[in-house]
Amino acid sequence: MIRWTLLPALLAAAAAQAWDPGFEPVSGSAFLSEETRQMQEDEFANPGMETVEYGRQLFHRPDEEGHSCADCHGAEGVRLDKRRIATFPRYSEEQERPVTLQEQINICWEERMDNFPYVYDCRELVGLETYVRYLARGEEIQVQTDGPMEPFFREGERLYHQRFGQLDMACYHCHDQHRGAWLRGQILNQGQSNGFPVYRLSTSRVTSLHRRFSECLASFRAEPFLPGSDEYINLEIYVTARGNGLKIETPAIRE
Ligand code: HEC
Ligand code: HEC
Repeated sequence: MIRWTLLPALLAAAAAQAWDPGFEPVSGSAFLSEETRQMQEDEFANPGMETVEYGRQLFHRPDEEGHSCADCHGAEGVRLDKRRIATFPRYSEEQERPVTLQEQINICWEERMDNFPYVYDCRELVGLETYVRYLARGEEIQVQTDGPMEPFFREGERLYHQRFGQLDMACYHCHDQHRGAWLRGQILNQGQSNGFPVYRLSTSRVTSLHRRFSECLASFRAEPFLPGSDEYINLEIYVTARGNGLKIETPAIRE
């Protein structure tokens, strides 16, 4: 029998349960055919490497003042903190909010290099993000969910379980309740973010995480949010933390 004095603690424990009991993160790559997985792992065959190369060029390209990312982070990004890259989105004391990796790059570009900011998810930011995530491949994802990150994580969790659109569906329905099932010729994976930005075979282009969110929402006829919106940033925090322990696999290949 439950002792009433224990109830508040039990309720708090239930509330702190951010994912189903026994949930183990599995990378979307585990759901690929053997052929596609080999293509992903072979740098000469992986078409996402074109975007890595594009990002690499931007990283070393001098801006109008003659400065480049490599001035501070070294040629080939040798002085980038690869472990730290795997902790984004992370709380920024300076900005007093969580920042995504794309935002961090934009902060460096705007504030440290004194340029006009890029638009979220533009070709340049996705290219640079793909390049620096590629440099951090193999690093274990470790997104903070407590402390100053907690309210944002909780909001992402709420959105993940919220029903949207005409079909009244939530992310949770497909990526938790029905994962492993087939949907329109595709296996439903866990909706992990560790391979992003990913190269899509169906569209022959690299897709950012926020764009993928929009595609999922559109697929069940719900109104997408904007790339870089608070909604997508909070969802990114929840979705990425749900994959804590997975390794960065950028650029992954997907259908
Ligand atoms: C004037 C120096 C400077 C330049 C130029 C610069 N950054 Fe940074 N960057 C920093 C500092 C300092 C940090 C540490 C985090 C902070 O304090 O914001 C950082 C953090 C980062 C991080 C997070 C990983 C880490 O090592 O902390 C990435 C990724 C990054 N920068 C990418 C870029 C890219 C891409 C460019 C070019 C568009 C760029 N930076 C230009 C100074 C710079
Ligand atoms: C109607 C089912 C459905 C719903 C609801 C849904 N998705 Fe998806 N999602 C998919 C399918 C199908 C894929 C493609 C699977 C693949 O890439 O193999 C996918 C892929 C993803 C991926 C990429 C996974 C990877 O490894 O590449 C992410 C991230 C994702 N979804 C997040 C979300 C989020 C966040 C929501 C809620 C806003 C959501 N999804 C709602 C069906 C759904």
